[in-house]
Amino acid sequence: MKEWVQSCDGSYTAYSSEYDEHYHSTKDGALNESLKKHIEPAFALHREKDHLRLIDICFGLGFNTLLSLYYRDTYYPDTTLEIYSPELDGDLVSSLVDFPYPEIFEPYRNIITDIATLGAYVDERTVITVDIMDARVAMREMDGEWDVCYQDAFSPSTNPTLWTREYFADIARLIGKEGVVTTYSTALATRLALYENGFHVYLNTGEGYRNATIASRRELEEYEKVGMEHKIGCNPNAQSLRDENSAL
Ligand SMILES: C[S@@+](CC[C@H](N)C(=O)[O-])C[C@H]1O[C@@H](n2cnc3c(N)ncnc32)[C@H](O)[C@@H]1O
Repeated sequence: MKEWVQSCDGSYTAYSSEYDEHYHSTKDGALNESLKKHIEPAFALHREKDHLRLIDICFGLGFNTLLSLYYRDTYYPDTTLEIYSPELDGDLVSSLVDFPYPEIFEPYRNIITDIATLGAYVDERTVITVDIMDARVAMREMDGEWDVCYQDAFSPSTNPTLWTREYFADIARLIGKEGVVTTYSTALATRLALYENGFHVYLNTGEGYRNATIASRRELEEYEKVGMEHKIGCNPNAQSLRDENSAL
């Protein structure tokens, strides 16, 4: 069961009774959270690129994909976008034609319809594929080099399979040397799983949203680095989540 819920910035999100979780932080606001934790850092860190390949884990209501389109069209109109997004819940994706999206997504109504009915959208600057499948399997099977992974699954406690060390090993394999992972999770277990797969870990902090994490293949000057060695020293029993302990 899902119900639409208005979040603090006025945009609507949803609540899942199956996971007992909202799709976005209602306090940060759905649109604001997507912007601050995913889209702004992803585009800022790739401002030189004219073609961006984005993995959107998981599609859900599609805010990260739709806001990427809006952001590209507004600030980087010459950039071409390729977005791949797995999502388990096909009924949810089909229902999105009726979702009360923010006004700024109005120009993308036809894209929402194509995704909801065909699972894909293509024009000369954009390729979007939404696959109704398990993201864990999708990431294992996928190849190629990608610039960004929006890591936006339900929380590690309710959806652990999408936060394990082995899962992030697949993400690490897919993310190129300049690539980044953006996520709302600041859990030490999440940061450890990223760190153990060769990512540098950074704090994404700012006005109007709760702290988040950016993980990068390269050193970033724009963000405060998280001292992972120090954190591990202070928490010697801390562990990343593992496939063998999650309900795979
Ligand atoms: C937090 S919501 C995603 C929010 C989304 N990024 C948005 O902007 O609306 C998590 C989504 O993960 C989906 N999901 C849960 N387990 C999954 C899995 N193993 N593979 C793919 N999708 C999954 C749920 O159906 C839900 O839509």
